[in-house]
Amino acid sequence: MTSTHSTPPRFSRITGTGSMLPARRLTNADLAADLATRGVETSDGWIVERTGIRARHFADPSQSSSDLAVDAARAALESAGLQADEIDLIIVATSTPDMVFPSTACIVQRKLGIVGCPAFDVQAVCSGFVYALTVADAMIRTGTASKALVIGAEVFSRILDFNDRGTCVLFGDGAGAVVLQASEVPGILSTDLHADGRHVEILCVPGTVSGGKVLGDPLLKMDGQAVFKLAVGVLESAARATLAKAGLTTDDIDWLIPHQANIRIMQGTARKLRLPLEKVIVTVDEHGNTSAASIPLALDVAVRSGRVRPGDTVMLEGVGGGFTWGAVLLDF
Ligand code: UT7
Repeated sequence: MTSTHSTPPRFSRITGTGSMLPARRLTNADLAADLATRGVETSDGWIVERTGIRARHFADPSQSSSDLAVDAARAALESAGLQADEIDLIIVATSTPDMVFPSTACIVQRKLGIVGCPAFDVQAVCSGFVYALTVADAMIRTGTASKALVIGAEVFSRILDFNDRGTCVLFGDGAGAVVLQASEVPGILSTDLHADGRHVEILCVPGTVSGGKVLGDPLLKMDGQAVFKLAVGVLESAARATLAKAGLTTDDIDWLIPHQANIRIMQGTARKLRLPLEKVIVTVDEHGNTSAASIPLALDVAVRSGRVRPGDTVMLEGVGGGFTWGAVLLDF
């Protein structure tokens, strides 16, 4: 006799998106003028040609990652039609936490008035959001959670060396969030995460807190060319791995939302995947590189502008310090 009781399949699906950009917007010209007062030379022409960045947003000194995260989370909750107290998991991807501990996720939890659900941070730098989404997907599929807030939030302006023109023109602040819910239909189709700690030094903030002092340099260091070369290769391989796991091909991708670091890296990735540039969501021009926030920020912009629509197949891809990289393929 066959049983009539079968457990319905359990997947995870994004049901809401939100984002937050601090009010202070600096164009390349604004930043170049600020840097000139320190004797640091740069230009709008160089920044646009080498990176595609035209502007970035910097948080007010009173704003922390958790503040940006809470605003993005509220917008995501509203678009999912949920109240904060229905959330049963909070994951925040950040490399610029409010404190050494507790986690920014616990601070976000308190600011949202949620009590009791698990809350923790994921530290995978610019790959943080795809790492966090992968963890949340696994926790939902195993029944540990049903309604998760997954947030990327950063105040990278706090860790920039404004005497280093090779890095300080690249980054900005912001936050993006999604609500991820249990669903009988996917949702997230496949994920692929990697790290290679042999490359720790090519992108790092080497300082640490010890004995009441900051030991080492607390500002961002990057070997831009080394990061650039590694990035294009791994973004292609992660995209192909998620497609293979889902039994799909690049033709099935409606939208590619890569980490927003440099337009040339995005163009190179699209070329390798033979994806037309019209299918690539680009916000680096207006946001700069917001590290773990860049992918959910770009997703929210794409959703609210009516480009990414329900049913679209979307590839999210992160790459950054660690060295870390990964992809999430999903039906929106
Ligand atoms: O989020 C994590 C992932 N991070 C990334 O993906 C970043 C990856 N790397 C990059 O995006 C690029 O390597 C950069 C945008 C950081 C640099 O572009 P590049 O084409 O690799 O330039 P470069 O470092 O080779 O520098 C070329 C020249 C140098 O001058 P010389 O030595 O040729 O005279 C630099 O000093 O450009 C100079 N330069 C600048 N000039 C004006 C470097 N930064 C600046 C600047 N303004 N801001």
